[in-house]
Amino acid sequence: MSLLFTPFTIRNVELKNRIMMSPMGTLAAGEDGKVTEWHKLHYGARALGQVALIMLEVSAVMEQGRDSGSLGIWSDDHIPKLKELTELLHAQGSKAGIQLWLAGRKTNRQGMAVSASEIADRERVARVLTLEEIQDVIYAFKAAAIRAAAAGFDVIELHAAHGYLLNDFLSPYTNKREDQYGGTREKRFRLLQEVITEIRGVWNGPLFVRVSAEEYGPEGNRVEDYVYYASRMKELGVDLIDVSSGGVYPDKPKVYPGYQVPYSEQIRRGSGLPTAAVGLITSGLQAEEILQNGRADLIAVGRELLRNPFWPRVAAEQLGINIDEPAPYRGHWFDYRHAVSE
Ligand SMILES: Cc1cc2nc3c(=O)[nH]c(=O)nc-3n(C[C@H](O)[C@H](O)[C@H](O)COP(=O)(O)O)c2cc1C
Repeated sequence: MSLLFTPFTIRNVELKNRIMMSPMGTLAAGEDGKVTEWHKLHYGARALGQVALIMLEVSAVMEQGRDSGSLGIWSDDHIPKLKELTELLHAQGSKAGIQLWLAGRKTNRQGMAVSASEIADRERVARVLTLEEIQDVIYAFKAAAIRAAAAGFDVIELHAAHGYLLNDFLSPYTNKREDQYGGTREKRFRLLQEVITEIRGVWNGPLFVRVSAEEYGPEGNRVEDYVYYASRMKELGVDLIDVSSGGVYPDKPKVYPGYQVPYSEQIRRGSGLPTAAVGLITSGLQAEEILQNGRADLIAVGRELLRNPFWPRVAAEQLGINIDEPAPYRGHWFDYRHAVSE
């Protein structure tokens, strides 16, 4: 029996299969950061394609922490359009997730870069956040979680990967602070811990955290550090670790099919938390191998879903099974008998 198309329950949410759309920033929003008709078409197409969990792209919890073009959830004004989108996805049987985020030193907006400390990579110089500003950050994540609930989201994911603000506090490369938010592994974890704790106080649904399990540079965190962080997150009520890598150092890692899957496997086994595997997973057979061998619980698909919103149908075909079709397509998705007349 295919695991990829077996439902998966996490906390109070049942996903109809194990396929998650990986969060992908489209920079298609206007200056107000609101959902547009384009976002509805883009995400709606993947819901029609039978993706179980549609994780929206990075969504800024503070106006000053966004990219130009990114979605926002920094104000109550964002709620109505986000709600229209979650309702659209729910109507097609998909669950909706939102990735809460602050860009930190990697913002595409001039002069807005902030980070844990002054350390700058080759491309950017960031201003150091004060203790007061750190409290504002924690509050902004909490307020955004309340809005996500009001907008009907099923899952919240914190973006603590790829060298964005939460990742910068975790990494010894970017966090040289000597106060309570830096200096040791536990102190570098403190910001993420406080954000998780605040969110857990206002959000009852599944909480995912995306991490860069390997930061690749000499001073960066290794997967062993993330096994430790994942164990801490489990204690705090996180439900799943979405295991990515890189983005902290400017250099690009070597990539190949499934290149991040071993990190997912290690974190899953080491912490006992469910994981999502991501990164060049492009076929149904590859996804099935990962799940059957206990290397992840969900398969996050990125670019392959940009190429083909109906990828779940292709994956099912590769596994030799039929899945539920969108009702108006019934009888046509898996039926090739009428391709050529007799
Ligand atoms: C256009 C684009 C935008 C992305 N934006 C995000 C994002 O908003 N948040 C995030 O965590 N990862 C982001 N990623 C990374 C993807 O979620 C995914 O981890 C990566 O593309 C590897 O998976 P894939 O080989 O299936 O595409 C982005 C990737 C692409 C190609």
